[in-house]
Amino acid sequence: MILIVDFGSQVTQLIARRVREAHVYCEVVPFFRAAEAIARLRPHGILLSGGPASVTEAAAPALPPAVLEAGVPVLGICYGQQALVQALGGEVQAGPAREFGRAEVEVVAEVPILEGIWAPGERHVVWMSHGDRVERLPEGFAVIARSEGAPHAFIADPARQIYGVQFHPEVAHTPDGARLIEAFVRDIARAPADWSMASFRQTRIEAIRAQVGAGRVICGLSGGVDSAVAAVLVHEAVGAQLTCVFVDHGLMRLHEAEQVTRLFRDHYNIPLVAVDASERFLSGLAGVTDPEAKRKFIGKTFIDVFEEEAGRIGGADFLAQGTLYPDVIESVSFAGGPSVTIKSHHNVGGLPERMQMALVEPLRELFKDEVRALGRELGLPEAFVGRHPFPGPGLAIRIPGEVTREACDILRHADAIWLEEIRAAGLYDSIWQAFAVLLPVRTVGVMGDGRTYDRVCALRAVTSVDGMTADVFPFEPAFLQRVATRIVNEVRGINRVVYDYTSKPPGTIEWE
Ligand code: XMP
Repeated sequence: MILIVDFGSQVTQLIARRVREAHVYCEVVPFFRAAEAIARLRPHGILLSGGPASVTEAAAPALPPAVLEAGVPVLGICYGQQALVQALGGEVQAGPAREFGRAEVEVVAEVPILEGIWAPGERHVVWMSHGDRVERLPEGFAVIARSEGAPHAFIADPARQIYGVQFHPEVAHTPDGARLIEAFVRDIARAPADWSMASFRQTRIEAIRAQVGAGRVICGLSGGVDSAVAAVLVHEAVGAQLTCVFVDHGLMRLHEAEQVTRLFRDHYNIPLVAVDASERFLSGLAGVTDPEAKRKFIGKTFIDVFEEEAGRIGGADFLAQGTLYPDVIESVSFAGGPSVTIKSHHNVGGLPERMQMALVEPLRELFKDEVRALGRELGLPEAFVGRHPFPGPGLAIRIPGEVTREACDILRHADAIWLEEIRAAGLYDSIWQAFAVLLPVRTVGVMGDGRTYDRVCALRAVTSVDGMTADVFPFEPAFLQRVATRIVNEVRGINRVVYDYTSKPPGTIEWE
C-alpha cells in the first residue's frame, strides 16, 4: 500500500484519488501519526502532501523521522518536498516571488521515474502554489526539472528513491501529474495494483462492522445518491442493525418519494420508515420568504421529525451519513490533534450531538463520481446512481418567495418536462445539474384568444466538477424553444419561460 502523510493541504485527498486511479490501495494520515502508521501498515512507498505552513518557521511541522527510516521510496509534494529537503540537510528559503497557478517547467535531466513521461529538453505545464522554495539541495540530489520561480521544481535522489516536486501533480491542472503519481506508486514503490471499487467495498464493510459492533444504526435517506449508497453499504455490513428513515418534506421532485421507498423496501429489503411530513413542513413555511429563514426552518424541522421517528423505533447508537470529501474540509492543526471543520449544508447536521450518536461516514474520502462507481458496484440502478444532485431543502429554495403546495406542484410538473426533454436529447449525463425555478412574478400572455396572467419559470442547467464553480450549459436555441413551448402548453400556472445564463461565480447554482 501507499501511505500519504498529510501536512494539511486542501487537496490531500486528490493525491489519494490519483493513487486509487492507479489501482493502488492508500491511506491518509496526519503527519503526527506517521510513525505509528508506518509501523502498522508497512507501506511500499510514502507520499508527502503540501500544506499551509512554511518550513522556515520554527513551529512548522517537521518531517517525521520514521518516513526516512522506513527505507521505502518517498515523493514529497510542495511543503512535503521542502520538509524532505530540510530533514536531509538542504536549505529552504522564502522565495523572492510567490508562484501561484500555471507554470512551465523545463526538464534538464533524465531519471527512471519519468521514463515515457518527460524527457530532457522538453517543457511541460504544471500547477504551482508556493511561497517558499528549495535553495540548496541535500547531498545525493539532482535537479530534474526547473521553472522560473522554482529552480528545483523537480528533484531526485534516484539511489535512495527519494523525489520532490514543488508543483502539484495531484491537481488536474498539471496534465501529466496523474502519470507521474502512477509511475511513483507502481514503478518506483512497486505497490501491488489490486485496488478496485470491489476491494474498497469489502474494506469499508469490515471497517463498518468493526466500528458498529452490535450497535444499532439509523440512516436518513434524502432521495439522493450519497445517502442511498451509504445506506446500502451499511446494510451490507450490519444487516438488520440498520434502519433507514425517509422524511418526505413535500419538497421532493416528481415521484421521488415513491422511487426511494420502492428501491429500499422492494429492491433491497432494507427496513425503512417513511414519513409524510409534508403538511408540517408546508404549514411551517407559510408566509416565509427569506431564503435563510426557509433553510433554517427546514433544517430544524427535519431534525425534529427525524428524532421523533428515531425515538419511535427505539433510538440508535450510530447515525450513518453519506458525507463526501468535498463536504469535508479537513485541516491539520499543528498544535495538537487534527481539527475537522465540516462545511455542511447537510440535512441532518446537529442530530448526532442532540441524540448522542456517533457518526458512520463510509464515503468520507470519496468524490462524487467515485460514489457513483461504488453505487454501481453495489448494484444500485443506473437511473438512480446517475442522478443530478438535489439540495436538502428541496424545491423550497427553487421557489423564491412563499412556498405553497400549489407552487410545489406547478414547479414539479415544469421540472419533470425539463428533465424529460434533456434525457430524450441524450444530454442528462453531460450536465451536472438541471432544474426549473418558479418565480414569484406574474406576466401577461395570450393563449388561444384569451389573456393569461401567470407565473414565470426559469430553467437552469450547469456543468461543474464539484459544484464549487459552474458554467452554463450551452443548449441549441431550438431545444430551449421546444421546452419553453411544452412547459407553457402543459403546465397550468406558467405562461412564460426564461433561461438562466449566469455562471458560478458570480451566481450560485441554486437560486436561494
Ligand atoms: P450553490 O447553490 O451553493 O450549490 O451553488 C452548490 C451545490 O450544492 C447543492 N446545495 C445543497 N445541497 N443541502 C445540500 O445537500 C443544501 O442545503 C444545499 N444547498 C445547495 C446545490 O444543489 C449544488 O449542487
